[in-house]
This record gives sequence, structure tokens and C-alpha cells, in this order.
Amino acid sequence: MYKAPRGTVDILPEEQRYWRFVETSAVSLCRLYGYQRLDTPAFEDAQLFTRSIGQGTDIVTKEMYTFEDRSGNVLALRPEGTAPVCRAYLEHGMDNLPQPVKLYYMAAIFRYERPQAGRYRQHYQFGFEAVGDGDPVLDAEIIEMAWKYFETLGIDGLNLYVNSIGCKACRPRYLEELKRYYASHVQGLCADCKSRFDKNPLRLLDCKQSVCYEVTEAAPKSTDYLCRECLVHFESVVGYLEALEIPFELSHRLVRGLDYYTKTVFEIQPPGEGAQSALGGGGRYDDLIDELGGKPTPAIGFASGMERVVLNLKKRKIAVPEPSVPPVFIAYLGNEAKLEAAKLASTLRRREVPAVLATGDRSLKAQLRQANGLGAGYTAIIGENEVKVGKVTLRNMGTGEQETLAPEALIQLLKEIE
Ligand code: HAM
Repeated sequence: MYKAPRGTVDILPEEQRYWRFVETSAVSLCRLYGYQRLDTPAFEDAQLFTRSIGQGTDIVTKEMYTFEDRSGNVLALRPEGTAPVCRAYLEHGMDNLPQPVKLYYMAAIFRYERPQAGRYRQHYQFGFEAVGDGDPVLDAEIIEMAWKYFETLGIDGLNLYVNSIGCKACRPRYLEELKRYYASHVQGLCADCKSRFDKNPLRLLDCKQSVCYEVTEAAPKSTDYLCRECLVHFESVVGYLEALEIPFELSHRLVRGLDYYTKTVFEIQPPGEGAQSALGGGGRYDDLIDELGGKPTPAIGFASGMERVVLNLKKRKIAVPEPSVPPVFIAYLGNEAKLEAAKLASTLRRREVPAVLATGDRSLKAQLRQANGLGAGYTAIIGENEVKVGKVTLRNMGTGEQETLAPEALIQLLKEIE
């Protein structure tokens, strides 16, 4: 027996209502804020990701699904959604459009991670990106939009953490200070942090191991080392967030796991759980388009894991709209009736009435059981008698009441119910 690959899941029909709810909420949010959908391929040139996410990151070193195709092209399954948006922005000359260009996506993301609750090797992200503007009011708008997304879904009590990690100009000095501070602590850190000390010192700050966590407490804060421009930007974002009444907390530990970030970074987490359970995160990436071969173009975005959102909806028992069920099941008894039943089903669908036709040659009782199982409101029954008089018996599955009608009257009645 085959099984879905480790770290992947099937989204079964009974789960679909959660997913539709998340998707429709996301689409309405994007309409409200003026974002347009962009779909990019599931795989890209692997270099697009190694160059943008960063050579020293977990994603690039351990988690990418990289493969060579039959022509020798080195490709990677999309491990995140921002770099493909930037690639498409450049490829399609969106820099010639009025800026910022506001785009959103819902897409499968692939990361070879250690699977656990809420962490998969294939997951879906809903993300949005505003490309082409460095105005701090845009940072606040993006953060507000992310916050509103969870509000719309009914997921409340979340923590929103905000930080600034500076830019190319001011970060080197901060990293130096950080390394100086960590130099005397490095022996006591976890194995991962020992290697982060050389490869990616910023990530020392968001390690969740208790030995490392304690050390972060007194570590130098990036916001104390910002250059003039980054400081003004940061203070301005904070000011806008306060004015918009977004309840955020500043966190000097928040650094994010991708190297392209500059200035503002933020993350939304359920209370009492670590960063592994983040419902979403994002930030500014003002150098990325430039690094991918475009002209310097500031940008900011956010993405949220849809599985984690669904898990939260379920955990909090949030009511989501019920799926619509076909209003009518069509049952028959005997071969002649079967032909009439197939014709009736076809006519109903032509008239836009969803209908489910019985199959096989089962007893009426078994057919009614199936209708109940599907949640059909009515069952249309065609037996020998009905065939003879050219009519159909309609059974209300709730009350058990039955009436015999001409097909046209039945269609009219079902159309009204629909
Ligand atoms: P990220 O923090 O790596 O950011 O992922 C965004 C969100 O995707 C996470 O907060 C989490 O909800 C979800 N997620 C990540 N990995 C997994 C996983 N293995 N299983 C389930 N859910 C997961 C980014 O990818 C950036 N591209 C976000 C961004 C957009 N920054 C700017 N624009």
C-alpha cells in the first residue's frame, strides 16, 4: 500500500470547508487592500532561491528540494513565495507600472523539514507583497493587513512581534557587536548555535533551546545599532502602528529565517507557543530586487501557513460555513426507471439544479440511506408506477413526507429550494 510521502497530507472532502473559508477570507482581504493575484510555477531555477534566501540559511542548506531535470537545468521546488514574486515582477516589467505593485498568492511550498504538528514538507502559504515603495506607512499597512486577516478568521489573542534588523549600512556593525557578546558564551550554546556563530550570527537570537534563550536576554539589540535612515523608518513604523491601534510588541529576538530582510521584520504567534508555531511572518526586503538584477526597489510582504490557520480554527472550534450539499438524490427501482432517473438527473443539471444519481441496483432502503449520508434534502424516487404515469415521487428527507409530481413541477420546486 502506498502512503502520502512523509510530511505531506491529503486534504479530505470533510476538511475542505475550512480551506474554502481560509481562501475566501484571504481573497476578500486582498480585495479590501487592493492586491491582485499572481500565480507562479511550483519550481524555479534553484539559484533564484539560493541567492535570495541566503547560502547560510536552514532553508538553503538543509531544506530545498533541488533536482536536475533531463536537460541538466538545476531546479528547486518553491521553498517560499517572495523570490518568485520578485522574479515575475522583473520578468514582466512590472517596474513600469505605478508603484507599489501589490500582489498576493496562495501556493504550495516545499521544505525538507522534520515533520511534526503544524510543520510539513509540503505546506500552503497565503502571502502578499507590495513591491516598489519604501514608505514606512506601507510597513504599517502590511502589518495591519496581516493582523486583520486573523481577525476576520476569528483567531484572536495572538501576539504580534515587530523588530528592525537594519540595512546593509548598519547591520555589519551590529553583527560585530553581537559576535563580540557571543564570543564568551559560545561554548555553552547548542550545536546549531555553535555553527550559527560563524555562519549566521543573527539567527543566534531566535534559538528556542533554553541554554541559548537565556543568553539572548542580555544580547545587544539591533535597534540600538540602526543607522539614521533605519532609525527614522523604524520610529515611523512604530508611530503608524500606534495610530492604527495595532497591538504589537517590540522583540529584539525576532530576526526571521531568511537573509533577504532589511529594516522591519514581524511575526504573528499564538500565545504560549514558540516560533515553530508562527501563524505568519514577513518584513521588508529592500535589496532583493536589486540582487536579482533589477534596479534598487524597496518592497515588503507577509506570508502565513494555511495548515496552521486551519489547525487553529479547529482547535478554537471556530464555526466555518457548511459546505453546500446537492439538494436532491435520485433513486430508482428497475431498469426502465433507471433510464428515466438518468434522464431526470441530466435535465436537472441542465437547469442548474445539482443532483446526485444513484448507481447499481440496490433496494430503495439502501438508496435512501445513501441520500441521507450525502445530506440531500430530497430524494426523487422513480419506480414502476412512476414510469407508467410519467411522474416522480419526491420525498422530503427531513420529514419523510412524499408527493408525486410531474417532472416539470419537480424541477420548479427544486429550483426554488436551490
Ligand atoms: P516563513 O516565516 O518562512 O516566511 O513562512 C511563512 C509562514 O509559513 C510561517 O509563519 C508559517 O506559518 C508557515 N510555514 C513555514 N514553514 C512551514 C512548514 N514547514 N509547515 C507548515 N507551515 C509552515 C516566508 O516564507 C516569507 N516568504 C514570508 C514573506 C513574504 N516575507 C516577505 N514576504
